Amino acid sequence: MRIGFIGAGQMARAFASGMVNQGLVAASDLAAADCSQAARDLFEQGVPGATTQDDNQAVAANADLVLLAVKPHHVPLVATALGKLSDEKLLISIAAGVTLEQLSDWFSTDRVVRVMPNTPCLVGVGASGYCCGPSVTDKDRDEVRRLLESVGICFELAEPLLDAVTGLSGSGPAFVYKFIESLSDGGVRMGLPRDIALQLAAQTVSGAAEMVKASGDHPAVLKDRVTSPGGTTIAGIDALEQGAFRGTVIQAVKVAAERSRELGQSED
Ligand SMILES: NC(=O)c1ccc[n+]([C@@H]2O[C@H](COP(=O)([O-])OP(=O)(O)OC[C@H]3O[C@@H](n4cnc5c(N)ncnc54)[C@H](OP(=O)(O)O)[C@@H]3O)[C@@H](O)[C@H]2O)c1
Repeated sequence: MRIGFIGAGQMARAFASGMVNQGLVAASDLAAADCSQAARDLFEQGVPGATTQDDNQAVAANADLVLLAVKPHHVPLVATALGKLSDEKLLISIAAGVTLEQLSDWFSTDRVVRVMPNTPCLVGVGASGYCCGPSVTDKDRDEVRRLLESVGICFELAEPLLDAVTGLSGSGPAFVYKFIESLSDGGVRMGLPRDIALQLAAQTVSGAAEMVKASGDHPAVLKDRVTSPGGTTIAGIDALEQGAFRGTVIQAVKVAAERSRELGQSED
């Protein structure tokens, strides 16, 4: 299968190297088009054996699967220049907020998949939600899933739920960065050197996440296991609840999802 990336920026690089590293495709089957020479150079360095050029049309014409990885406001421009995409090709877009209907209209094909990935895809631990247009086949679905799993986990969902995915896993890394920053600030407040506090905080977050994934236990069960009566952890949890920790995080996901929906509607 030949894959053509339109846009060779950081997400395209992440997907391309994930696919090659997982043995999904040979690097020689990957080509990317980008108007930026710097992006093309980085793509070729990041995915040795893949080719790049500045001609979107040529890359799309030679691909079985076209992966659209330009910024959302560039998608209509790309579509106008490319014209109708052959039904022989599967189109996958990772452009935030660009709907299946828009993709179908602009590229004149229903064989389209819309993906909402997140930045941890760059380090192979991404989380993506995706939805499929009416002409996407079961074989296409398998390919999409394997492609997304090469950079993390993924779930097929109804399109309206992609706003919730945006609010949770799309915006979520920024919420977690704030939490890591706050944890390390707490450590510094109590006398730890900044660099050590930051490393302890980041490792604590990834370690706790690993415990949730590896054990399959509900986070509340894991929390109860480390919360002894009258101990240090329950004192800290009391402080978190006084600051409405859970309600604040739920609200953050809710408003981010609502904002995603608003932005999608304003682009109609
Ligand atoms: N990064 C994330 O965490 C994330 C998460 C979810 C979804 N996404 C989506 O992923 C897409 C790509 O994001 P990114 O972070 O990889 O962006 P990026 O690094 O800016 O890459 C996009 C590349 O496309 C190039 N480009 C612009 N117009 C073009 C055109 N007409 N033809 C060919 N290439 C063109 C850009 O060049 P110039 O720089 O010269 O414009 C740039 O090199 C976006 O739509 C974004 O919404 C990203």
